Amino acid sequence: MADRKAMLERIRESFDISRRDAAQIVKNFHVEMKRGLEGRQSSLKMIPTYVDRPTGREKGKFIALDLGGTNFRLLALELKGGGRISVRLIRNFALRKEHITKKGTGLFDLLASSVKAFLKKSGFANSRDINLGFTFSFPIAQSGIASGTLVAWTKGFNAKGVVGKDVVSLLEQALVRNGISHVKVRALANDTVGTLIARSYSDHDCDVGVIIGTGTNACYAEKVKNIKKWEGPAPRTDNMIINIEWGNFNKLKLSCYDRLLDGKSGNPGEQIMEKMVSGMYLGKLCGIVLKDLVEKKYILHFLPRKASSKIAMLRSEDISAIQADKTGSLAGVRNILENIGIRLSSREDRKIIKEVCAIISRRAARICAAAVVSVIRKIDPFILRKHTIAIDGSVYEKYTGFSSNMRSFVKEILGAKACRLRLVLSKDGSGKGAAIIAAVANCEGA
Ligand code: BGC
Repeated sequence: MADRKAMLERIRESFDISRRDAAQIVKNFHVEMKRGLEGRQSSLKMIPTYVDRPTGREKGKFIALDLGGTNFRLLALELKGGGRISVRLIRNFALRKEHITKKGTGLFDLLASSVKAFLKKSGFANSRDINLGFTFSFPIAQSGIASGTLVAWTKGFNAKGVVGKDVVSLLEQALVRNGISHVKVRALANDTVGTLIARSYSDHDCDVGVIIGTGTNACYAEKVKNIKKWEGPAPRTDNMIINIEWGNFNKLKLSCYDRLLDGKSGNPGEQIMEKMVSGMYLGKLCGIVLKDLVEKKYILHFLPRKASSKIAMLRSEDISAIQADKTGSLAGVRNILENIGIRLSSREDRKIIKEVCAIISRRAARICAAAVVSVIRKIDPFILRKHTIAIDGSVYEKYTGFSSNMRSFVKEILGAKACRLRLVLSKDGSGKGAAIIAAVANCEGA
């Protein structure tokens, strides 16, 4: 028993993020942000997006195509001005493994044929020219409001022949191959940018967009004079949204378990923060820690050594459900274990499993809180103004205790000034935002 207590204490320590750690994260974040903005080597790519926030007056009918994970979605919507958006139709589509890992043309052909089928239902089919906003949630080096090349795949994607290519051209070619010539791709956006833009269409305090889902990232409105690497024409406003690509931030304290997870991943050394925070990895990370505890005989003693990897089958949704179990006997945890083939567990085992999941997800929320504070302090060092932080993603929305852990750490770090920050769940913004950018591009005749 004493052993187990000491073991839990060790795990707690290796996943702890104190206020002092948060201060260090903010400092490192600022160094990396500055380097990225200067075009120097940095784990933060700080990608200029060619757009600023909308005025709220943009109008028109648009289609949005939103690809960012194992699902993609199509939206038909109308911007009515005055910050009002009416969504006419939304359809979700699932990607199969072959679309994610085989030839890129297969992936883009699927997107194009889905656009074709969707247009028939959307009521837009007979319009002469249809403007499309394309949300593509991977690191893109943008070369215009509607062009950009894929720098690297993340989130387990590996479709061939896409890295280094302009993804808008790939989509347009696929549309033509599929017999669609009246759809024009007017905007290319990251999901964080879409989320920020969609919220700021009606909320002028919004200057940060965050996604904490399968992957994680954020963007914010930066003064153009601070974007030292920017060589393009000065935009009309003095600001431009910067896609930080914070999932790749690597100045964080790693535990031995994080190193193991990174080593086993498809992109070792990359997306370090994403591997500590996002839905794609939280389950895997808990699995690695718990497997170690099984092998060291701290939990589930009767499980034969060769069956220890069963515990590593937990998914992020399971981890969330484990934490939500408030029953005295932890019957919910028992069910989840049974589902992955572990039929026998003691209450003490289940208690430890629940505690480990809580430790790991609490760290994830605290890292995100420190990262949000870093971004706000970059925009407004003394936090003199109000800021809305628009957040979307399954982990933030659904994961037990995640958003409240995040908010309470923001309060701990900032004290009274935390009341100037509003962290708001902004659902479905990624697609809507791309349509708003398309509207902006259309007005500017881009
Ligand atoms: C991608 C980002 C994206 C984030 C959230 C990351 O893996 O690199 O571009 O914004 O996931 O979807």
